[in-house]
Amino acid sequence: MNKQILTETIEQLFANGKGLLAMDESTATANKRFAAAGIPQTEEMRRRYREMIITTPGLSESIGGAILFDETIRQQTATGIPFIQVLQDAGIIPGIKVDQGTKPLAGFPGEKITEGLDGLRERLAEYKTLGARFAKWRAVITIDKNIPTEACIAANMQQLALYAALCQEADLVPMVEPEVLMTGDHTIGRCYDVTEKCLKQLFDQLYLFNVDIEAIILKPNMVIAGEAASQQNTVDEVAAATVNCLRASVPVAVPAIAFLSGGQTPEMAAAHLLSMHKNFRNQLPWILSFSFARAIQQPALDTWKGQEANVAAAQRLLYERAKLDAAAVSS
Ligand code: G3H
Repeated sequence: MNKQILTETIEQLFANGKGLLAMDESTATANKRFAAAGIPQTEEMRRRYREMIITTPGLSESIGGAILFDETIRQQTATGIPFIQVLQDAGIIPGIKVDQGTKPLAGFPGEKITEGLDGLRERLAEYKTLGARFAKWRAVITIDKNIPTEACIAANMQQLALYAALCQEADLVPMVEPEVLMTGDHTIGRCYDVTEKCLKQLFDQLYLFNVDIEAIILKPNMVIAGEAASQQNTVDEVAAATVNCLRASVPVAVPAIAFLSGGQTPEMAAAHLLSMHKNFRNQLPWILSFSFARAIQQPALDTWKGQEANVAAAQRLLYERAKLDAAAVSS
C-alpha cells in the first residue's frame, strides 16, 4: 500500500468543504427510480441521465468525487468522451461501487449479506486502470423486532474489512459503508444502539485485518428514527445523536466521514448536516461531509423526466443541492 497516494486522494476529495456525489445505483435500482419517474428503463436512458449529471456546470465547486457503477464507468457522452475523462477534466475524482449487491443471509430471515469478494482483487485492478481512485462497499443492516442478529453484524463487518484490505493493497481508498436502514418504525435510540454496535465491530474487524484506518473513508447512516416511527425527532436531536454515536465509536485516526442520505429528503439531509457543524464544530475530529445519492439527485431526476428539453433545469437543481450540502459542511 502506498499510504501517501491514499491520503492525498482523501485530502483532494474533501478539499475546501467539498463532498461526494453517489451516482452508483445498480441497474436494478436505477430502473426502479426511472420507473417511478415515468422514464424508460434502458441503458441509453441511464447513460443520458448520468451524462446530464456529470456535465452539470459548476458541479466541481461542491463535489470532489463521484461514485460510479460498473456500467457507468465504461460509458461515454453522446459526443464520445469517456465519463471518467469528463469527471477528471472537471477536477472530480472518480470512484466505483465494487460490491455486487445484497442477498438474503442464509438462515437469518429478513437479514442481508453483501456479495462481491470473489474476484475482487482483479476487478479492483481493472477499475484502477480505468481511472478510479476510491472504491465503495455497502453492507446493509435492517432493524426489526429481533434483528439485527449478532451473526448478521459479524458477517457484514468482516466482509467490509476484507474488501477494505484489498482496496488498500490496490492503492484505492476504501469507502466503507455499513448502512443501518431507516426502514421500519424503530426509535432514534434503537438506531443509535445498532449503529454504535455495528461501528464498534467494524473497527474491530478493520484492525484485525490490518486495514490502515488513517486511509479509509467511513460512509455511515445518520442516527435517526425509522421512517414509519410515530415519533420523529427534531433536526438538532438527530444531529446530536449522530455526532454522539460517531464520537463513541469512530477512532479519531479516521480522516473522513461522509454520510449516506438513506431516504431522507434532500432538505432534511442538508439540515442535519448543517446542525452537526453548527452545534458541534469543536467536537469533530474527522472531516464530516456527505456522499449522498438521492438527497442530491432526486429533484434533478424528477425534473429531467428523460427529456432533453429539461436538462438545463435539472442540472440547476443538482448544482443547487450539492451547493447547499457543501455550504452545510463549511458553515
Ligand atoms: O449506497 C448508497 C448510496 O451510495 C447513497 O445513497 O444517499 O440515496 O442513501 P443515498
